[in-house]
Amino acid sequence: MSRAENLEGKVVLVAGGAGGIGAETSFRLAACGASIVVSDLELAGASEIALRIAEQGGRALGVKCDITKPSECEAAAQAAVEQFGGLSGMVNCAGVSRPHDSLTLPAEDWARMVDVQLNGAFYLAQACGRRMVSSGGAMVFITSTNAEAAFPRRAAYCAAKAGVAMLTKVLAIEWAQYGIRVNAVGPAYVATEMTRRNIAAGNVTEAQIKARIPLGRLAHPADVAEAVVFLLSEKASFITGQSLYVDGGWLAYGYF
Ligand SMILES: NC(=O)c1ccc[n+]([C@@H]2O[C@H](COP(=O)([O-])OP(=O)(O)OC[C@H]3O[C@@H](n4cnc5c(N)ncnc54)[C@H](O)[C@@H]3O)[C@@H](O)[C@H]2O)c1
Repeated sequence: MSRAENLEGKVVLVAGGAGGIGAETSFRLAACGASIVVSDLELAGASEIALRIAEQGGRALGVKCDITKPSECEAAAQAAVEQFGGLSGMVNCAGVSRPHDSLTLPAEDWARMVDVQLNGAFYLAQACGRRMVSSGGAMVFITSTNAEAAFPRRAAYCAAKAGVAMLTKVLAIEWAQYGIRVNAVGPAYVATEMTRRNIAAGNVTEAQIKARIPLGRLAHPADVAEAVVFLLSEKASFITGQSLYVDGGWLAYGYF
């Protein structure tokens, strides 16, 4: 496939790379010529995506990385250096969503949500940033419209995603001196397992989602992945510290 974005020579670590958005992002980055380290909680899922990239003629390695563990983030970033000779990109697609009433939310559940969404984002960025300071790079955090818009029963998710949007700005200005750009992509509902689980659990219906989104549909993983590809490419070379919302108009909508 010939692509406008040329990512030949780039090496990108994709965390949560076995998930809906992570896998699609990995495939599209590889199609642009990047070498991909696909990481996820389980090695099997990450390796399967890496194998499929290789079958399509791309270069990829699957590794296990729980982003809540700084040592595993370090190991995943180092695997990129050892396998492909460096690290120039990072995408964090890892995440969990477990809506729960705030009055009865167990402290452990709050802590786990913040650990995966916010602490893990920082540990991963730190491990990757340490390997980008000498030659620059670009990072993208997958946040959510919930970084801006409050949903009930999602206190930890919303607060953590808003935290990542601010982390994006802080790292962008702190690491600009090293030529490292840091941006975020915030989707509304995307047609992935996460949304299917939310619908199955009765937290929301597909009809509600479609009615609330001006463009009238859920996002495809490709909608999100293409925004990531752009932000990692040289076409976005003067864009840093930004959150790009891929939401079909969700955040713009303020009418009845
Ligand atoms: N699906 C949506 O509607 C939607 C909307 C807005 C934002 N997002 C965000 O997009 C990102 C990707 O979501 P998705 O829809 O692809 O979900 P998904 O459930 O398909 O994939 C999430 C992946 O993250 C992995 N993961 C979970 N905890 C992890 C950890 N501690 N370390 C490493 N990996 C871990 C899972 O194993 C899974 O492969 C998440 O951050 C999510 O919050 C999703």
